[in-house]
Amino acid sequence: MTPHELSRRVQDLRREIEEHNYRYYVLSQPVVTDAEFDRLFRELQALETAHPELVTPESPTQRPGGQVETTFAPVRHQVPMLSLANAFSLEELEAWYARVVKLAERTAFRFCVEPKIDGLAISLRYEEGRLVQGATRGDGMSGEDVTPNVRTIDVIPHQISLAKPLEVRGEVYMSIADFEALNVRRGEAGEALFANPRNAAAGSLRQQDPRVTRERPLKFWAYGVVGLEGQTSHYGTLQAVQALGFPIWPEIEVVDSLDAVWNLCRAYEARRSTLPFEIDGVVVKIDSLREQEELGAVGREPRWAIAFKFPPIQATTKLCDIQIQVGRTGTLNPVAVLEPVEIGGVTVSKATLHNEEEIARKDLRIGDTVIVQRAGDVIPQVVKSVPEKRTGHETAFHMPEHCPVCGSLVVKPDGLAMRYCTGGLSCRAQLVESIKHFASRRAMDIEHLGGKTVEELVDRQMIKDVADLYGITREQLLGVARFAEKSAENLVAAIADSKKQSLKRLVFGLGIHEVGEQTAGWLVDRFHSMDRLMNATVDELKDVPGLGPVVSESVFDFFAEPHNRAVIEKLRDAGLRMAEEAPAAADGPLKGLEYVFTGRLERMTRPTAEALVSRLGAKAGSAVTKKTSFVVAGEEAGSKLEKAQKLGVPVLTEDEFLERLSTLDPSLLEGVARS
Ligand code: IVH
Repeated sequence: MTPHELSRRVQDLRREIEEHNYRYYVLSQPVVTDAEFDRLFRELQALETAHPELVTPESPTQRPGGQVETTFAPVRHQVPMLSLANAFSLEELEAWYARVVKLAERTAFRFCVEPKIDGLAISLRYEEGRLVQGATRGDGMSGEDVTPNVRTIDVIPHQISLAKPLEVRGEVYMSIADFEALNVRRGEAGEALFANPRNAAAGSLRQQDPRVTRERPLKFWAYGVVGLEGQTSHYGTLQAVQALGFPIWPEIEVVDSLDAVWNLCRAYEARRSTLPFEIDGVVVKIDSLREQEELGAVGREPRWAIAFKFPPIQATTKLCDIQIQVGRTGTLNPVAVLEPVEIGGVTVSKATLHNEEEIARKDLRIGDTVIVQRAGDVIPQVVKSVPEKRTGHETAFHMPEHCPVCGSLVVKPDGLAMRYCTGGLSCRAQLVESIKHFASRRAMDIEHLGGKTVEELVDRQMIKDVADLYGITREQLLGVARFAEKSAENLVAAIADSKKQSLKRLVFGLGIHEVGEQTAGWLVDRFHSMDRLMNATVDELKDVPGLGPVVSESVFDFFAEPHNRAVIEKLRDAGLRMAEEAPAAADGPLKGLEYVFTGRLERMTRPTAEALVSRLGAKAGSAVTKKTSFVVAGEEAGSKLEKAQKLGVPVLTEDEFLERLSTLDPSLLEGVARS
């Protein structure tokens, strides 16, 4: 690789990994298997190891993957919640052990061996014997406060017989049987299905309304503790935690050789499909707490533990067809239609193929024998074709030139891997998906409006855009299949109820390309009303912290489209919120701090800097006082800098300030730190 190609590859990998992290941690909707993700991550790690000059603090290898969800209050973990290094083979497990032996300068260890449960990590804090806080792992340093939701999980004690502060950590998960039953209920209600038990658990715990969480059958295994005195081993700690009332996996074992560890790894792998919950590996921990402390951690991973990850389960089947699904933004998504095959207890008949490049790279032809894998999680993947099995009757696949749903022309923008239908909202698929998005839980949250109903309303031409929802009557619904008096009334009421949703949800719900929940929030924070947002220039949009040129153009183009403006007018007439509610006091990692800016900043304007700190919960002051936490001094700073020095207020350079912000939330600085 030339240096240029190398740096391109590193950048592409980082972007891809960030995207997958976002889908996994924030949306709970991964599109690649864990195995595929690990492959990307390792490729990046290998390139960075070979070329250390390419490592930057923002690289996903340098920090845990979780992103902090913005809709819950942030919680700073008193002790970081680490993640685990992975081993995918006996050799890698041995390599880990060899490092441990070398560092600890001894060879005899006791290992605690536990299943790696596929759920989400949670921290439970107790004070004076009471559960005072439940928090997700987030990025490892700070997570989300989900206390009311955690309190709905039956097996988690609300009260324990220990007055000293204690933090119990473990995995919240959903059993396979509960997950399947939940999906059956969701399917019947026309709601989106969860891809796997882990996503179901994460989605259920991260509910704004704890009553929803209460309806979800969540469970918990404890696997770690902070602050329990008088313990010398991990195993002993877990026993003590169990005695306090926390569930621990009853078959945790302590063994004293790596051979025994390996035998247990193989045994778990063999039992995997018979366990009532999903596991994706085995966690091996050095049992002695003193040795754990000696070994310490590197970056995000403790040296004293490792996750042995099971290889993905594969099967061979036939690729019967490749179909195209058209997404909300017009993307043509190829889907593999497979001869149904059982993989690890699940029947697989479809798999995503992402895009045509992937189809070409894997040399897939319709009629091919293919290898399909499930990594105990997410959507099944086609690994490759088996060309030796070809009969000569296989046919190559070509992406269509016209949308298979509406017939509009298909385009492939330069530099993008995807093709798009140009039909916009005249394409039934895009219209249906955009209405589903508008009604979805994170947008306008219209209960009782499932996917099947949307399709039917569109097909009967009862709705041609999202605003038409607000004109639907009970009588009209009674003519639609599945609706009876009560259900029709419920839907009309739910639609009317959604008029109260915030402007932020509305902006997100409009489905503007590139505008997710976070960006919608930034837009509303800056413009406060639909009118001001609709009439913003590209330059005004680019000035919003976090918005880069691509997003700004996309927002501008959306509002320049007369059809979109007409829909917004209809929404206004229907009585939706077109201005922001009174702003709530910002809560964030810089809460309680006050920043004063002085002098000329090089990389952003002062209002932008002030907006950034207030977004993170701090105040932006105008005068330096004893209460000022930091003064950020740019070029030619004058009297405020002197005053800060006199009062002993810490002074930061612009670079130091940016560095601080980027460690808190690197995404904040996108498009801002233009040097
Ligand atoms: S110990 C310092 N034990 O795996 C070690 N983690 O990649 C912290 N997990 O975030 C984790 N089962 O969500 C540990 N028996 C187990 C586990 C386990 C599942 C998850 C956990 C963690 C992730 C690490």
